[in-house]
Amino acid sequence: MSPDVLVRPGECHVWTARAVSVSPGLEALLDAPERRVFASFLREPDRALYLTAHALRRLVLAEALDRDPAALVFAAGPHGKPYVEDDPVEFSLTHSGERVAVAVTSGTPVGVDVERVTELAELPLPVLSERERAVFDRVPEPDRAAAFTSYWVRKEAVLKATGEGLRVDPARLTVSAADRPAELLGWRGRDAARREGGRRDDSQRAAGQREAVQPHPPVRLYDLDAGEGYRGAVALLGPAHRIVRHDGGGVLHRPRRAAG
Ligand SMILES: CC(C)(COP(=O)(O)OP(=O)(O)OC[C@H]1O[C@@H](n2cnc3c(N)ncnc32)[C@H](O)[C@@H]1OP(=O)(O)O)[C@@H](O)C(=O)NCCC(=O)NCCS
Repeated sequence: MSPDVLVRPGECHVWTARAVSVSPGLEALLDAPERRVFASFLREPDRALYLTAHALRRLVLAEALDRDPAALVFAAGPHGKPYVEDDPVEFSLTHSGERVAVAVTSGTPVGVDVERVTELAELPLPVLSERERAVFDRVPEPDRAAAFTSYWVRKEAVLKATGEGLRVDPARLTVSAADRPAELLGWRGRDAARREGGRRDDSQRAAGQREAVQPHPPVRLYDLDAGEGYRGAVALLGPAHRIVRHDGGGVLHRPRRAAG
């Protein structure tokens, strides 16, 4: 591992970046399946976003593992969660609008999600639990889109950490409201749930709840500042971690040897 970006136990390193222009140097990092997806995008902004996300993922993992970025081989779990074929490193990738983020830990399952706040206040599918709905219904109109996006990224981060993605109905999870620190408050129907004591917030009070219910291993949620007009969250399955932020733009523009 490189000494400047050593991902130590108890740390979660997160790189965020804006989509960069398509460049042959970054394209050369992609493998054949990535190139096929890249080539399938018709719009330039979509191509740039995909390339930025997948090049950044390769560059930061290569640095953390002291490997050649172009030589990393990715595979996917049963619901699509990617992993490096011959290394137990845990990571997660997200791309939305013009932003990408990559999170890496030394072995704790991690999920990261960034979404652009759009004028759409809600998605046309059930996302909020009853407890969240009781709080969200009181959010003033100008704040609703951002508040809804906060719920969404917190839930998606958790479901990306477990690897289940949207195979799990997001309305089964209850997370804290947008104006509260990110926290998983409950997960309806989750096995091996245990109670974590005492903390209450508006959404719990509204539903008459006294305790947060945590699955095992516990889910740690952190807000991620992804820039103006975006909301982001990081979820970890295990003990609390220190979140270490990096400038992904710096990594993407750093001079390096030509791949291959
Ligand atoms: C994972 C999922 C939540 C991603 O949501 P999203 O907000 O659209 O996209 P994001 O940019 O945040 O994340 C996409 C990345 O997550 C990763 N990913 C994909 N499936 C994943 C999973 N099950 N768990 C963790 N990460 C996953 C991939 O790296 C993907 O990037 P890529 O497609 O460019 O390779 C969603 O696509 C999903 O649940 N997929 C699996 C189930 C499915 O296909 N359901 C159909 C829709 S109901």
